[in-house]
This record gives sequence, structure tokens and C-alpha cells, in this order.
Amino acid sequence: MLSNLRSPYLALPGVHALPSHLPLGELGLLPVNAYLVQGSEPVLVDTGMAIDRGAFEEALWSLVDPRDLRWIVLTHDDRDHAGNLKEVLMAAPNATVIANGLAVSRLGEEWDVPAHRVRTVNPGRTLHLGDRSFTVIRPPSYDSPSTIAVYEHGNRALFSADSFGTVLEDMADNANEVNEQDYLTGMSLFTRANAPWTALADQSKWDSALAEVRGLGPSTVLSSHGPTATGRTQHLLETVRGVPSADPWLPEEDIEVEAVLDRYETQPLPD
Ligand SMILES: [Fe+2]
Ligand SMILES: [Fe+2]
Repeated sequence: MLSNLRSPYLALPGVHALPSHLPLGELGLLPVNAYLVQGSEPVLVDTGMAIDRGAFEEALWSLVDPRDLRWIVLTHDDRDHAGNLKEVLMAAPNATVIANGLAVSRLGEEWDVPAHRVRTVNPGRTLHLGDRSFTVIRPPSYDSPSTIAVYEHGNRALFSADSFGTVLEDMADNANEVNEQDYLTGMSLFTRANAPWTALADQSKWDSALAEVRGLGPSTVLSSHGPTATGRTQHLLETVRGVPSADPWLPEEDIEVEAVLDRYETQPLPD
């Protein structure tokens, strides 16, 4: 299997990104990141995609001993976040999953996370994991009801799950390497594509969700689907604020209606 995984990079002190990407057709390339937060109790945020299986674990275990990994925060059960959950959990005997209860139920469509290896949380909870503290929130946009984002107090970093994701022409580790306009246009597009329900969102309620992020005051946003964004939170919030009033986005169709109709006309049904 062809892996898209690139070399891990240091996103913040003690925080490595495990970066990959997924082609999204006409939209461009979607960054897909997991993050390892080092500390007295190392925390993995998400577990990459199945297409990176093998390479993902190799990169992860080059950064932390499997016996030392203590927590796996699963932002939601989508395949680009839970792709190697089983493999990581089996290799790391002392790791416990932290996820929303709905994520655990939904993972049950494929396999049951052993009950003694998981703790379920809801937005509003603050977790003290060794020398790091994380506050759980529901991020503004999401495509799974189980989605949680976590704010890490020491680095003032928001691990924002699908929120503040973007699509790019070329992969970049840091948002400073990307043309500002492309970065923000891609963010608006991805948010509409990933969460089409935002077209139905009441602007004042949407603003309240954004105000919750503003209230936390993250200096860095670490999206599952974007490069490291430091000192840009205000711009990010302004960009996604316009999403409910922007044109909804749908992918192109490639069904050739006329060709199908022609075929029926030229090939009469058999008796
Ligand atoms: Fe998702
Ligand atoms: Fe995602």
C-alpha cells in the first residue's frame, strides 16, 4: 500500500505532528495529521489513516516507546482519525483511549474497543494527564456527532479536529509557508465541504461557537487537516465566521446522463 506519510515535525515544544494527506479531487490535497504530545504521560491525538498503516506506527514508535504511551485522545471515529487505533492500542499496553461515548459506539460497527481500555468524555471536561492539562470542547465545525477538540493549556494549543482544516496545492508543515489567501480560501471551502450543515446554521449560534474558541484564546491551532497555525487564531475565526452565508459546496458529478440515455435508446431491452 502506498503511504502518504511524511516525516514527523515539531509543531510546538514537545508536540510532534505525524503528517499525511488525502487527495480530495478538484479541491486539492487535504492534510491529515495526528499529534504526539510528550510529557510525563505521553498523549497521542488521533491515529492516522489506514493507508499509512505500518509507516504510521513506525514513525510513532520512533518518537515514543510503545510502553510509555499513556493516552490516545480520539477526536472522533472517522477513518482518517481512527485508522490505526486498533494497531496502536494493541502495541501500547499502557495506553487508554479518551473519546466521546458516541465514538466508542460507532467504532463498534467494526470492532469493540475493550471497555477497560477506554474513558468516555463530553465537552466541558478538563483532564489532567500527567503534567499536561486538556480541556475538552465541541469544535465549531465537525462531520461526526462524536467530535471533540482538546485545548492544551501549557502550549495554549487547540487540537481542533476537523475544524480550521484547509485544502492545499502542496503540503506544508507551517501555515507561514502557504499563501495566505489560498490557505483561508481553502479553509472556507473545506469547512463547507466537510460540514454542509453549516449552511443551515443560525449566524448568532455559529458566532457563539466561535466565541467559545476565542474565549479559550489559543495561540496555536493544530487542526487535523491543516498546517501549524500560530498567532493566526483571529484570522481563522474571521474566515470560518462567513461560512454559513457562503455558497454551499458540493463535489462535481461524473455521471454522464446523456450517455446513459443514449445507451438505452440504441440497445433495446432483451425480450
Ligand atoms: Fe471527520
Ligand atoms: Fe477528518
